[in-house]
Amino acid sequence: MFDKKNITDIDVKGKKVLVRVDFNVPIKEGKIKDDTRMTAALPTINYLLEHGAAVILFSHLGRPKDEPDPQFSLAPVAEHLATLIPNKVNFAEDCIGEVAEAASARLQPGEVLVLENTRFYKAEKKNDPDMAMKFAKLADIYVNDAFGSAHRAHASTEGVAHHLPAVAGFLMEKEIRYLGQAIADPARPFVAILGGAKISDKIGVIDNLLQKADAVLIGGGMANTFLKAQGFEMADSLVEEDAVQTAKELLAKGGDKLHLPIDLVLGNAFDNDAESKVTDVENVPAGWRVLDIGPASVEDYAKVISEAGTVVWNGPMGVFEMPKFAKGTFGVAEAVAASESVSIIGGGDSVSAINQSGLSEKVTHISTGGGASLEMLEGKILPGLAALQDK
Ligand code: 3PG
Repeated sequence: MFDKKNITDIDVKGKKVLVRVDFNVPIKEGKIKDDTRMTAALPTINYLLEHGAAVILFSHLGRPKDEPDPQFSLAPVAEHLATLIPNKVNFAEDCIGEVAEAASARLQPGEVLVLENTRFYKAEKKNDPDMAMKFAKLADIYVNDAFGSAHRAHASTEGVAHHLPAVAGFLMEKEIRYLGQAIADPARPFVAILGGAKISDKIGVIDNLLQKADAVLIGGGMANTFLKAQGFEMADSLVEEDAVQTAKELLAKGGDKLHLPIDLVLGNAFDNDAESKVTDVENVPAGWRVLDIGPASVEDYAKVISEAGTVVWNGPMGVFEMPKFAKGTFGVAEAVAASESVSIIGGGDSVSAINQSGLSEKVTHISTGGGASLEMLEGKILPGLAALQDK
């Protein structure tokens, strides 16, 4: 259920609208490598422009050390945005203060202004009220469309919402509707697929999903820790020794719901040129490490996925960057794409796996949020969403 006001609930004509977007996109040599997060924000930006607003966009980019650093500048993002919309796109070399205020004052309806990285100030991450007030000075209305940053209580994602009329953008609403529905009232069976290296990053998520889902399929490095907790020898594999006890508790809690790989792809080094072989979970020999789930596991998981009403997937099944160890992840991607379920994929790695497999069109919703989608799956309240006005 989505109970926040959105941009259609307010009059934006002739107003300056400050929109927090998540333009934290990969950039190499000044070029945007993946503009998914930018194109995902276009419906909000275009709606505001078409309805007579002057649009001021602001975002963080990367993790600079609380001070200006050219390698984290949003200037290339502004340049790229100008290729995506016909409107004039201006850029201000600061996100608050005189430079930003003057640029905002000059901005006309139908024009866009992109501000410099909000994380060039320490006050941003501290959610400093003074920083929030400075943002608020730039506009008449605040819109949060940065779902990917909604789990952060920063001045640009949370603080500023207390100083201006504050509503959601279309991307924020869409993300919350898909993920919220999946958790609160999923079409069943509800199947969660969780991968990635560490259990410790996802304990809360596994715990919550074991209560909500009908099946939780585990892959990636974290499966090794579960297998170790079941008493299997994992040889040179990545195992989180500190999390073995937690894994035991989750196994006891999960019972039949928690599915682990039944076979594995091993490598004798962490390298695509390594020698590789498939084995069952009892037979991981010394000198070898688990780098993917095996074909029988893929078959087992694909069967569960094919019967699902809802699938949520976060995290790869193996080291899919190396073609030799990518079959588990791509096999799961194919199963998700082939299923009739409502399918939702979140987290950078699983999203790039589905994109690489060319199957993204077959998925119901690809989330622009990594950490944010995980926190939703964990059942947490997102501060960036909570601060917006209720309907
Ligand atoms: C993300 O990429 O997940 C978001 O942009 C948040 O970035 P952060 O983890 O640096 O806050």
